[in-house]
Parts: sequence; structure tokens; C-alpha cells
Amino acid sequence: MNPIALDHLPVLPGRRDYGIGICGAGGIVNDAHLPAYRKAGFNVAGIFDARREAAERTAARFEIPRVFDSLEQLVADRRVDVVDIAVPATENLGIVEAVSAAGKPMLIQKPLAEDYETARRTVEAITRRGKEEIVVVECIYCKGQKRVSRWGERKEERLWLLKALLIRSN
Ligand SMILES: NC(=O)c1ccc[n+]([C@@H]2O[C@H](COP(=O)([O-])OP(=O)(O)OC[C@H]3O[C@@H](n4cnc5c(N)ncnc54)[C@H](O)[C@@H]3O)[C@@H](O)[C@H]2O)c1
Repeated sequence: MNPIALDHLPVLPGRRDYGIGICGAGGIVNDAHLPAYRKAGFNVAGIFDARREAAERTAARFEIPRVFDSLEQLVADRRVDVVDIAVPATENLGIVEAVSAAGKPMLIQKPLAEDYETARRTVEAITRRGKEEIVVVECIYCKGQKRVSRWGERKEERLWLLKALLIRSN
């Protein structure tokens, strides 16, 4: 396989004006999510953080038009089509339930939860509404990992290759 020819980049949607509502204004949102949204030309509709000053700082830095007062306000806003959740894992379930109740799709930072039972309830809260969800895992669009997923035909083979790759990249 020619590594240079590998088609590893994500396929961008035809529409890029869906309103993204962000919950959490921490390191990963400032260093990764928002720079990527900016690069892709996505529409960030607003942001909420339990620490208002963090949300305000991020909003000013990335020209986000509104800071929400609460999660309830964020999920209810008609300009928010999809919710991006990037908070400590202990907070995910409550937020997922609120987003799911509003019938909106969401993107959730890993880890989903800190224990299996909470993770199971979190998935249940999402699937109950039949909405799409994505859990962000490490570097899913990195060339190496994408390549691994093509190499290994069998699951065990892929896992082995992935482990080898992670050891190498660390
Ligand atoms: N996929 C990756 O490679 C990757 C990398 C870094 C972090 N993460 C994950 O992303 C999540 C966030 O990480 P981070 O580094 O940005 O953390 P951080 O501590 O820098 O930021 C978390 C933010 O969430 C806010 N917050 C906490 N509880 C909240 C709530 N209930 N409602 C609204 N806001 C709340 C905090 O005030 C803080 O601003 C963590 O789960 C972390 O494991 C994933």
C-alpha cells in the first residue's frame, strides 16, 4: 500500500451551517475542537460552561456569538442543532440526558464514563431517542490508525496492530 495515497481525511458534510452548541470550555475545546471547527468553516452557535468566565474567555477568543446561562438554555436554543460535549466524564450522563430529551444529536468526548454501568446508562440515554452520537476516540483520522483499520481483516489482527502502533507512537 502506498502510504502517500492513503485517503485518511474525514469526509466533510455538504452543509456546514448546522449550529453547534458547545458544553465545556476547557483545554480540548480551546486547543482542538474550536480550531478544527474554524478550519472547516463550521458554525458555532454558542457555548456553556459551569464556570461562566471560562465560557466567556473562549467565546471572545473564537468569536462565538453567545454564552448560555445554563445547559437547559443551550439545548433549548433553536439555533443549536447539535451539541458538542467536552466535560469531565463524571458529568456526561446528566448532560447526555438533557441533550437527548431535547432530541438533538451529540458528540461526546471520551471517556464516556468512569465505570461500566454509567457508560451503559449513557448509551441507553442516547439510543432511547434514536439520535446519532459520536464518541471521540484518539486520533481516529490519523493516517496510522486509518491504515490499521484497512490492514487487518480480522478484529484480533486489527487490535494487535493498533497496540503495536500506539506503543510506537508513544
Ligand atoms: N479525545 C482526546 O484525545 C481528549 C483529549 C483531551 C481531553 N479529552 C476529554 O475531554 C474532556 C474535557 O477535557 P479538557 O481537557 O477540556 O478538560 P478541562 O478540565 O480543561 O475542561 C473541562 C471544562 O468542563 C467544565 N465543566 C465541568 N463540569 C461541567 C458541567 N456539568 N457543565 C458544563 N461545564 C462543565 C469545566 O468548568 C471546564 O471548563 C474530558 O473528558 C477529557 O478526558 C479527550
